[in-house]
Amino acid sequence: MSKQIYLTGITTTGTPHLGNFVGAIRPSIEASLNDDNQSYYFLADYHALIKSTDPALVRRSRLEIAATWIALGLDPERVTFYRQSDIPEIPELTWMLTCMAAKGLMNRAHAYKALVQENEDSGANDPDKGITMGLFSYPILMAADILMFSANKVPVGKDQIQHLEMTRDIAQRFNHHYGDLLVIPEVVVEERTAILSGLDGRKMSKSYNNTIPLFDTEKKLRKSIMKIKTNSLEPGDPKDPSDSVVFEIYRAFADDSEAAAMTEAYASGIAWGEAKQQLFEKVNSVLGEPRERYHALIEKPDDINDILVEGAKKARKESMALMEKLRAATGISAT
Ligand code: TRP
Repeated sequence: MSKQIYLTGITTTGTPHLGNFVGAIRPSIEASLNDDNQSYYFLADYHALIKSTDPALVRRSRLEIAATWIALGLDPERVTFYRQSDIPEIPELTWMLTCMAAKGLMNRAHAYKALVQENEDSGANDPDKGITMGLFSYPILMAADILMFSANKVPVGKDQIQHLEMTRDIAQRFNHHYGDLLVIPEVVVEERTAILSGLDGRKMSKSYNNTIPLFDTEKKLRKSIMKIKTNSLEPGDPKDPSDSVVFEIYRAFADDSEAAAMTEAYASGIAWGEAKQQLFEKVNSVLGEPRERYHALIEKPDDINDILVEGAKKARKESMALMEKLRAATGISAT
């Protein structure tokens, strides 16, 4: 059997948090260690421009996210690790795919619809107020990321499933017109922990400002964990693990037997303060060593840049070859 290609990206608009780790980074690094797989992981910095017009933030975030992957054990020799913006074939493919994407399909994107809804709720007279074409076309850029490297499997959070469906739809339309050139990808969602809740109980996300950063100091990590919202049950009251963010995050870091022990502790009324302390210890034991590596790496941005430039060289061997085929198939090659 030929190797399965895994591909995923993280938008570079923030500091990586526990949700990114559990939902994307950890399963991706695990997949990269399997010899049956070939992995492409990248910094989605073109996607960052949709969300942020602050160059310093985008630059800093790219560095932090790259350092995070490497600190957590990604081996850049084993995988192809690159910046989206170092691959000029991606915007080129984006245009071809834009010509294959039904506008009606894009109208149905959850992220776009949510913003339209907000405008309608606030009584704005333009439902598209403040919405750029970048945001509207976001799923097409994402499709180009995926199709460029013929990915078979795309590990993402549940909120991205729709984007994968759109990618498949767009790729099928392309193949229908021009022949079977694009590989139809599948989404991979780690069911148990794919989306982690944040401090306030909503999905952990930089847009909700409710995240727990991955590599804060130990002190700040404890402080964040102590801020997680709980209900008002007293020590001694039995607690329901399925209704607790503290448990949910614990579950994502613990093994099965630790989780079973914690389930019992909930049933016998563990105090929230104690449950949070145990959560802190668990998370800290997993992240302690990577945290040190991270801080060493972030001091050496040139080294990180070298790694990414090498990654882009590897990636462009693939992207240039595919683009040549697509240019020929669509009738825009030189000959
Ligand atoms: N849209 C993804 C997110 O916000 C990031 C992303 C961009 C991505 N391109 C991708 C993920 C391609 C997987 C594959 O989480």
